[in-house]
Parts: sequence; structure tokens; C-alpha cells
Amino acid sequence: MKYNFDKEVCRKNTGSFKWDTLEEKFNNKDAIPMWVADMDFEVSKSIVDGIKNRLNHSVFGYGITSDSYFEAFILWMKNQHNYDIKKDWVVFSPGVIPGISRAIGAFTNKGDEIIVQSPVYHHFYSVIETNGCKVVDNPLVLKNGRYEMDFIDLENKITDKTKMIILCSPHNPVGRVWSFEELRQLGDICLKHNILVISDEIHSDIVYKGYKHTVFTTIDERFKDISIICTAPNKTFNIAGFQTANMVISNKELREKYNKFTENQFFYGHSILGNIAQEEAYKNGYEWYVQLLEYLEENKEYVIKFIENRLPQLKVVRPEGTYLLWIDFSNLSMSEEELSKFLIHKCGVILNEGNEFGKECGQYQRMNIATQRKKLTTVLEKMEREISKL
Ligand SMILES: Cc1ncc(COP(=O)(O)O)c(C=O)c1O
Repeated sequence: MKYNFDKEVCRKNTGSFKWDTLEEKFNNKDAIPMWVADMDFEVSKSIVDGIKNRLNHSVFGYGITSDSYFEAFILWMKNQHNYDIKKDWVVFSPGVIPGISRAIGAFTNKGDEIIVQSPVYHHFYSVIETNGCKVVDNPLVLKNGRYEMDFIDLENKITDKTKMIILCSPHNPVGRVWSFEELRQLGDICLKHNILVISDEIHSDIVYKGYKHTVFTTIDERFKDISIICTAPNKTFNIAGFQTANMVISNKELREKYNKFTENQFFYGHSILGNIAQEEAYKNGYEWYVQLLEYLEENKEYVIKFIENRLPQLKVVRPEGTYLLWIDFSNLSMSEEELSKFLIHKCGVILNEGNEFGKECGQYQRMNIATQRKKLTTVLEKMEREISKL
């Protein structure tokens, strides 16, 4: 079956966080939203059919995570990432961030230090702070247009209070797909200093040609005992609204501690429809997924070429994965506030402000390219016209 990702789908008045808050948050209800990381595409037919089928049953009592879901998830991880998972290791979570929050609660004490690598997904900061811990930044370094980890700085920042690192792999917003060697080096440092690695791999399926995602624990048997792998079908299959995620905890002691902690939170289990959506995604969504990747690859090349050829004032970091582009607007010589106003009110587009991701990033904005190409053209051409008038 051929999916048509060019098909326009009106998302206004659908209870969409990305589309239905434009007036309230940005004072421009007609802007094109390219901020929140979900996609403007219809999901695979298998997901829709699976849900419709279940709705026909018409009884929606408390749910469980079905064995057939575990089978589908385990097979997906094996086929896509060569990651062998045992069913017992998988702990359901209503989202990756709620799962990370619980991990912080289970494995740290108030005042402990947790490392992040900025610029990074803004909830990494808030989830640490709301749990009473301290954010320690090990900033990524931009070298020749590509971000790298700074291992010397990482080791220098580790103290007796450092208990955890939240790794973003692939990295939002800079789009790096970390190499085996980079992850091994990071893991060796964490092993040496007894630091727990919470590896947020929610973007791991969106990886471009020429790159390969490596699941952190597949690098070294010993990494299994110092890590939790967080993954979800939410980004890959555009089902974030169902709030489904998996924390894969292969070390029994860590898993028991995590489960003990979550017991106190009275989380009852899986939404019936969420369970169907994620099972159908992993079991029958492959064809849709392959076509999605092709479309995103073309979108990425289209935007990069447009910027290189027609918006030379901007610099875009070429992503290796994720449908998020990290764009440097510093040549426009605007303050952070002026830049956002210019984009929202002159160019009619909502991007994510760079300073959400890191203190020094006010001249950057993050663009979500998981939308119909026609919308990308509209936005880029408007930006070209408005920038030429400056
Ligand atoms: C790196 C990363 N982690 C987690 C999330 C959110 O995941 P969830 O909605 O499952 O909490 C996002 C969403 O953009 C993300 O980019």
C-alpha cells in the first residue's frame, strides 16, 4: 500500500496541543506550527483498523498490557536495533518523561546531581529540578557544523553527588545519532564512576541514510547493569496522544527498585486503546514506517537545500536522525525576543525557541519538518521574502 504523506490533514479543533494553542500562546491563530514534536501525518491503516475493531466491542474496563503487545515490541527491537529483550525487562510507562521522572525518584536523593548534555530537550531540565535534584551540564561542542560530546568536561564535572546522566540518543535538538565508539566512551566513564545512564531513545527509529542507531546496552554486557533504555512508539508512529512508552530495565535489582517506587504512585496500567495502538504500530506498521522515513529524508534534504541556496543568512545543523532541524539565526542580528516575534508575526511560523534547550542558544530555533512538503515551501518562501526585506 502506498501512503500519501503529502495529504493535507486539518488538525485544528482536534484538541491538538501543537495546533489548537496558537492564539493563546503566540497570539497568531493563523501561523503554521512547526514546534511540538509530533507529526502532521495520518497514522498507518493498521493502527486505525485495530482501534476501530476494538471500539466495536464497546466495553472499556481496566486494561492490561497484552502478551501480543510484548511479542510485537520485542520483535521490533530485535529487527530494527538488534536488541534482544526479555519480556520481564519491559516496564510500561505512560510516557518517556514520566518514566524518567520515576527513575530519578527511585535512584536518587534530593540534592543529587544529574548530568545532561545541552542543548537538549527542555523536559530533561524540568524533570530533574522538580524531583529536587541538581542539573549539571556537560555541553555538547559544535565542531565543523556537527555536535560532539566533550568527555574531558564530563569527567571533570563528576562529583560524589553525581548519580545519573540522562542521555538523549538520538539527540533532540541537534540531530546526532551517536556512534558506537562515542557511546562506548560515555559508558566506560559512567561504569568507572558508578553513574546510572538513563538512555532516552525515543527518536531511535527516525534515523537517516548512512547512520545507524546503537542501543546503549548492546555495546557492552556490563552496560546492562548501569542503564535503563527508554523507548516508545510515540514519535515513530505518531501516537504520542496515546501516552505509551517502555522502560527496558535488564538489571533485576534496578528493575525491582524502580517497580517498588512506581507502586507507590498508584498507576493502574495500560489504556485499552493505547495498548492496541502500540501493538498495531509495532506489529503491522512497518510498511508505513519505511515510507515515512523516505518522506522525511526528502523533507530534510529539501529544507537544507532551500536554506543553503535561498536563505544563506541561516545555518542549519544537518541532522543524522530525528525530524527536528536546529537552525542558527545569529546572522540576522536580532535579540531572542525580536527573532521570535519576527518568525511568529512576520513569517507566520511557530518554531521552538533555542533557549528552551540551553542557556546560550537564544539565536537558534528548532524546526519540526514532519509535515506536508507544501507547508514547508509556504514557510520557507515566506521566510525568504521577509528576510530579504530586513
Ligand atoms: C528526547 C525526548 N524525550 C521524550 C519526549 C517526550 O516523550 P513522552 O511524550 O513519551 O514523555 C520527547 C518529545 O519530544 C523527546 O524529544
